[in-house]
Amino acid sequence: MDLDLEGLAARAAEAILRAQGKTVAFTGAGISAESGIPTFRGKDGLWRRFRAEDLATPEAFERNPKLVWEWYRWRMEIVFRAKPNPAHLALAELERMGLLLCTITQNVDGLHQAAGQKCVVELHGNIRRARCTRCGYRVEFKEPPKEVPPKCPRCGGLLRPDVVWFGEPLPEEAWQKAVQLALSAKTLIVIGTSGIVYPAAMIPQLAKQNNATIIEINVQDTPITEIADIAIRAPASKAMQAILTEVKKQLTQ
Ligand code: OAD
Repeated sequence: MDLDLEGLAARAAEAILRAQGKTVAFTGAGISAESGIPTFRGKDGLWRRFRAEDLATPEAFERNPKLVWEWYRWRMEIVFRAKPNPAHLALAELERMGLLLCTITQNVDGLHQAAGQKCVVELHGNIRRARCTRCGYRVEFKEPPKEVPPKCPRCGGLLRPDVVWFGEPLPEEAWQKAVQLALSAKTLIVIGTSGIVYPAAMIPQLAKQNNATIIEINVQDTPITEIADIAIRAPASKAMQAILTEVKKQLTQ
C-alpha cells in the first residue's frame, strides 16, 4: 500500500475511533462506480449521454412515461446485476463493530442494504421500488418490469419510479433524519459525491458547522474538499479497505 494512503487511512481510523460510535457516512454515485453502476457526472457519466430534463423530471414523465420507464428499466437492469463492492462492505462492517451510526446516501441502488448495512437513509429514493401516481401504493421489484410503464397492482393506476426527480422535494422523513445525523456526527465520511446537488450537499456543511471531522474519499477534488480535514484521493474500495484495516490495527494496539 502506498505510504500516503496508509498515513491518511491511519488518521481517518483515529477520527472514527475517537467518535465512539458517532461516525456517519454520506455517499454518492462514486461509491457504486466500482460495482459497475455509472455515475452522473464525469467522463462516462449519465448526464453526459442523456438530458436530465428529458428523463428525470415530473414534466418528462407526464409527457412520455414510457420513455422515462425505458430509461429506468435499463438502469434497473444494471442495478439488479450489481453487487456491493468492498467500500459498501467496509461500511457495513464498521456498523456491525458499533463504529458507524448510519449511512446517508444519495444513491438509489440499494447496495448499502445489500452489503448488510442496517441503518441507511435514502435521500433520493430507491430504483428498486415504484409508487402509484393515483393511490400512492408502493411496489418493490425483484427484477425490472417486463411491461413499461407498469401498472399499479392495487388500483391499475400508472406507477412511477420511487425516486426523487429534479424539481421535486426530498422525502421529508429521510431529510429530517439526515439532518439529525449530520448534527450528531462527530466524524463524517463523505464518499464518492460531487457535492453539488442540493439540498443533499448541505449534509457535509451541517456536520462541519457542528465541529465534526470530515473525511473525504474521492478520486478527485470537489467543493467538499475545502472543508475536509482528511482528503483521500483514491477509489472508494481501496480507501475504505485501508481505513478498515487501520481501525482493526488501532483496536488491537
Ligand atoms: P456524481 O456523478 O455527481 O459524482 C460522483 C463522484 O464520485 C465524483 O465526484 C467522482 O469524482 C467520484 N468518483 C467516481 N468514481 C469513484 C470511485 N471509484 N471512488 C471514489 N469516488 C469516485 O454523483 P452524485 O454526487 O451522487 O440525483 O450526484 C448527486 C445526485 O446528482 C444524484 O443523486 C442524482 C444526480 O443527478 C438525482 O437523481 C436526484
